[in-house]
Amino acid sequence: MDQVSQIRDKVDIVSLISEFIPLKKAGRNFKANCPFHGEKTPSFVVSPERQIWHCFGCGLGGDCYTFLMEYEKMEFPEALRALAKQTGITLVSERATAGTTSKKELLYEINSFAKEYYHYVLTKLPVGKQALEYVLNRGITLQLIETFKIGFSPSTDQSLVNYLTKKKNYKKEDILDAGLAFVGRSGLVDFFRGRLMFPLIDHRDNVVGFSGRVLEADAPSKYINTRETLVYHKGEHVFGLNITKEAIRREKQAIVVEGEFDVLSCFGAGVGNVVAVKGTALTDSHVSLLHRYAQKITFCFDDDKAGQEAIKRSLVVVEKKGLTPTVIVLPNGKDPDEAIKTEPGLFKKAAKEDVGIYDYLLAKLIDTNDVDSAEGKRSLVDEFLSFVALIQNEIVKEHYLRKLSSEVGISYESIAKELQRFVQRQTAPVQSEPIKKKRVREEMLEEYVLALIVQSNDPKKTVQSVVKILSDSMSRERAYQKILLHLIEHIETSTHQEEPFDGKEFGDKLPSELVTHFNTSVLFPLPQFESQDDLLAEVNKKAGELRKLYLQKKIKELSEEIHKKEDSEDISDLRKKYTQLARQLEQ
Ligand code: GTP
Ligand code: MN
Repeated sequence: MDQVSQIRDKVDIVSLISEFIPLKKAGRNFKANCPFHGEKTPSFVVSPERQIWHCFGCGLGGDCYTFLMEYEKMEFPEALRALAKQTGITLVSERATAGTTSKKELLYEINSFAKEYYHYVLTKLPVGKQALEYVLNRGITLQLIETFKIGFSPSTDQSLVNYLTKKKNYKKEDILDAGLAFVGRSGLVDFFRGRLMFPLIDHRDNVVGFSGRVLEADAPSKYINTRETLVYHKGEHVFGLNITKEAIRREKQAIVVEGEFDVLSCFGAGVGNVVAVKGTALTDSHVSLLHRYAQKITFCFDDDKAGQEAIKRSLVVVEKKGLTPTVIVLPNGKDPDEAIKTEPGLFKKAAKEDVGIYDYLLAKLIDTNDVDSAEGKRSLVDEFLSFVALIQNEIVKEHYLRKLSSEVGISYESIAKELQRFVQRQTAPVQSEPIKKKRVREEMLEEYVLALIVQSNDPKKTVQSVVKILSDSMSRERAYQKILLHLIEHIETSTHQEEPFDGKEFGDKLPSELVTHFNTSVLFPLPQFESQDDLLAEVNKKAGELRKLYLQKKIKELSEEIHKKEDSEDISDLRKKYTQLARQLEQ
């Protein structure tokens, strides 16, 4: 067996996927809300028997490798190495592995050396001295510098480029692809020069890029970031998660701040469950990433207009994904970094007393509108309703409608009516359902019946009962019919009659064009049955319906044939057959 299969065999897909999303037992399978598309009822199914997963909502599916590739955005060699490590299997030829080192991994490697280099310059070299003083002056301790691997990029044109090409033998084009240099008049030039360097590290400890801050107070472009590269995508990365994910998991809460310094200060003050979005609003990817660790997202943005706007834009995404949004109201200062410097105790208290985001927004609106005038009420209600309309939970929604009603002195009914009008005004974006191929009813019934069989406690017994019903009507046209026939044969010819049905053994023996269909039946989400007798009753009923459809179809075909041959004599056989089928149908 090759190592890919060997590792696949050793991995337990249920425990692998459980590390990322909570799985619930459902019959022979496990279920969850699909991590790859937004949904509220689970259509993501994992089969321990077949060691595969599939989502009936978005259609993604596969094995342990494809799961990691989709979920962790790994490439195949990366997934292979990760699972080899997990299962304790040493990949035979390191050369083969080296050959398959992906471009992504190469960029991670280069970035990682750059991180070490910048950090060394900041902490050990005379050229880093001024920068070191700057950070220390801002209250960042040596320990924090160590934890977050902060560094400094010298202001000479080619310090990093020389280090990477001469000491580490990296190719120029790869350094360019990592976004660490650009092409100047006389060769490569360092992209970051004379800046305090924050390595951007993902939750799997890959260094994906950097952000660099100038040391002067008011220089243009205070921060610059690595451009979009193969491994750095601004909208997907949050700063600090590699260090803070455990605390976020523990606290069941992710505090989201704007800047790198905010993260460092919070962390230093003992508020460790924090990440920064780097001055933008949260995106879908950010929220999905944070959702792996926590259900509650707490905003602690700058206390200015830009911060307010970012909260509002982020709120849409947080609600869409069904997470709970709250806010930390800054006691003083323009951002968390400043608030902590002014009075750490007060900030920590405020962080513990995060408030519901809608309470916060309502309070802000009451502050900024004249609640005594009709016009003030109208504009306050209008704006607040645009937020309330986002709330997914009906109880929470009504709670805030009632609160709004009592705060502005307008009846609940008027407010509820106004909300309805608001929702109607917003032309609801057309939900694009995944386009499903139209399938005949027979095929859907076949799929369901086969699923009932292979997911029952005793597939051998179930299949025998189905065979009794279908034996006089079955044909061998579609995939599911073929599988059923294979199944019957498998059971009849199996040498160990008393052994339970083994889905893996059977699946591995099937002709390859039928495997996907078989996997679908193994994973197909079934309703809950009180008992196996109930399941058996259902499968018999559905098999009965199938039989009727099969016979009706045959009768129809036959009658068409009879019509065509109207004038010739040799229809007596056909007529006989017709009568027989009709009688069968009545049975
Ligand atoms: P300090 O001035 O160092 O205290 O930073 P800050 O964290 O208070 O910065 P600010 O509130 O101005 O911005 C918050 C975050 O937005 C920063 O940490 C950066 O990640 C980002 N940011 C700020 N200025 C720029 C800029 O000029 N360019 C880019 N790309 N990002 C910026
Ligand atoms: Mn700030």
